[in-house]
Amino acid sequence: MSNPSGVPADKLPRHIAVIMDGNGRWARERGLPRIEGHRRGSESVRACTAACMEAGVPYLTLYAFSKENWQRPADEVGALMLLLDRFLAERTAEIMERNIRLRAIGHLGDLPDKARRRLEDTIAKSANNTALTLTLALSYGARTEIVDAAREIAREVKAGTLDPETIDENTIASHLYTAGVPDPDLLVRTSGEMRISNFLLWQISYAEIVVTPKLWPDFAKEDLFAAMQEYARRNRRYGGI
Ligand code: FPP
Repeated sequence: MSNPSGVPADKLPRHIAVIMDGNGRWARERGLPRIEGHRRGSESVRACTAACMEAGVPYLTLYAFSKENWQRPADEVGALMLLLDRFLAERTAEIMERNIRLRAIGHLGDLPDKARRRLEDTIAKSANNTALTLTLALSYGARTEIVDAAREIAREVKAGTLDPETIDENTIASHLYTAGVPDPDLLVRTSGEMRISNFLLWQISYAEIVVTPKLWPDFAKEDLFAAMQEYARRNRRYGGI
């Protein structure tokens, strides 16, 4: 049977990372408050998760809230945190039913207590699920992630448990928040911006990038399938010929 994504199984990405952008513009175009764009955006989160599961893509990572996003007006930040809290409250049963393993990367200690506790609870509950690993990047910044890894490596060197001469790419990768998760093969960004915005800088070294003009709340299952098809058409060379 052919894959619902239209991509042969051997050409599917193993890990898709998404920069979900354009919620504010989507709302503005409709004369709605920005938070309504975020609310609709959380429905696209569900659609993309379903798309990955149907296609058999085992890892999906979503940029839900960056370190820089704390600079937004307090009411928008508060509403986004409430949305995260509600998303977890309403979706944890479904996460379990669908056998999804939830993870989070970033400075989770920055999150409001209630949302953080709910997040940790769902992460713990779903830890042994196997169908899809869904990672939410929350209070995440890639440079901060690299700084954190450097500090941890330095501590190990200082403690005498790590020889500096043995440090290689695997040492760095295994100290990032994403340790144990394969690097993204495909990076999707919505709403047409050609930027990486401090997302997974180390991990996307060889990722194929697909930028779509669609705003995130309009981004549906078919759009993710289209991005997978575009990925399958690319010829990845990793610096070779
Ligand atoms: C970017 O749109 C989107 C965000 C900063 C937040 C992403 C959050 C969600 C999709 C909903 C919550 C997610 C979960 C997991 C519950 P923007 O506000 O930067 O849009 P703009 O560039 O058009 O202003």
